[in-house]
Amino acid sequence: SSSPAPKPVSTVSPFACQRRTTLDNHNKNFTDLLEVLAENMELSGNQGPCLAFRRAASVLKSLNTALRHPEEMKHLPCLGEHSKAIIEVEYLSLSLSLYLSSALRTSENWFSRGLRTLEQILSDPTIRLNRMQTAGFLFYDDISRPVSRAEAEAMKVLVEDAVKRVNPSARVCITGGFRRGKDFGHDVDFIIRTPEPGQEDGLLPALIDWFRRQNVLLYADLQESTFDLGKLPSRRFESMDHFHKCFLIVKLKRDDVCEERERDEDGRRDWRAIRVDLVAPPIERYAYALLGWTGSTLFDRDLRRFARLERGKLLDNHALYDKATKAKENSSM
Ligand code: CTP
Ligand code: MN
Ligand code: MN
Ligand code: MN
Repeated sequence: SSSPAPKPVSTVSPFACQRRTTLDNHNKNFTDLLEVLAENMELSGNQGPCLAFRRAASVLKSLNTALRHPEEMKHLPCLGEHSKAIIEVEYLSLSLSLYLSSALRTSENWFSRGLRTLEQILSDPTIRLNRMQTAGFLFYDDISRPVSRAEAEAMKVLVEDAVKRVNPSARVCITGGFRRGKDFGHDVDFIIRTPEPGQEDGLLPALIDWFRRQNVLLYADLQESTFDLGKLPSRRFESMDHFHKCFLIVKLKRDDVCEERERDEDGRRDWRAIRVDLVAPPIERYAYALLGWTGSTLFDRDLRRFARLERGKLLDNHALYDKATKAKENSSM
């Protein structure tokens, strides 16, 4: 037989889980632009292009230097024609970035109907918002402002205190971006670890109840577990898991946050609203849930893709399965 084709000299893996993950982004000018485009594609329901832009941004973030010339893109995986074109245009510094971020971040539909402010949107009878959107709008200013690490730590104290009252043997761990070392996030994610199987049942409703009685709960959307061991792995390997979880908006008192602030705070209320996600998996699924909820979303997606394509396994937030037999891997995690 003929000799094997030479391997392409690409040192950057097409799998995010095989690349360096860093907070030190040398290509922020490009990745900001690609992420604005990804967000816009997501809002307009174009999942495919959205993922392509996110992939391209993720590859650029993993590089340990800035791209110096568009030629260098030749050696990088996951850069589609659109992403390459965007990067080239950015090179020509046409200020596309500023233009696009102002034009695209606005909801096109509402904007074209002449609605320019939140008040107009909220008072327009033809727009029916669901409860989550209403809560989101009511606290829009707070929720669109990034959450600092100091605020995340203060929120952790609040959640730990509540969890202790509901189940003293339960433990709380920050997940999401803050667990990955980010200094800011759009919310604070927590996973709750209960030592005995079954203790996760009823935990979140009790926590929500406690927050409500403390007068710090602004919004709660509880999703009870849809976990059914017999049905796993599901046919469609979705990223959505079946654990008990809730989406909250919680008041955080400024006095509870240990951080330096500007003195000039006249007229501001003494709390801010923060988005909080809680998940309470059964203990035997904890490791997989922690991995999945730590993210990033693209890292998780590529970890699953890597498991499937390179290792013959199916991975999700619940377990790792052998692809051929669908048997659960005997994990002692
Ligand atoms: N996640 C999940 N199932 C959900 C919601 C979230 O598995 N129903 C996972 C996401 O895939 C992600 C992690 O939980 O890996 C955190 O999600 P999110 O808070 O949206 O993102 P962060 O990475 O924390 O980024 P940010 O700082 O913007 O919050
Ligand atoms: Mn988060
Ligand atoms: Mn996010
Ligand atoms: Mn979250």
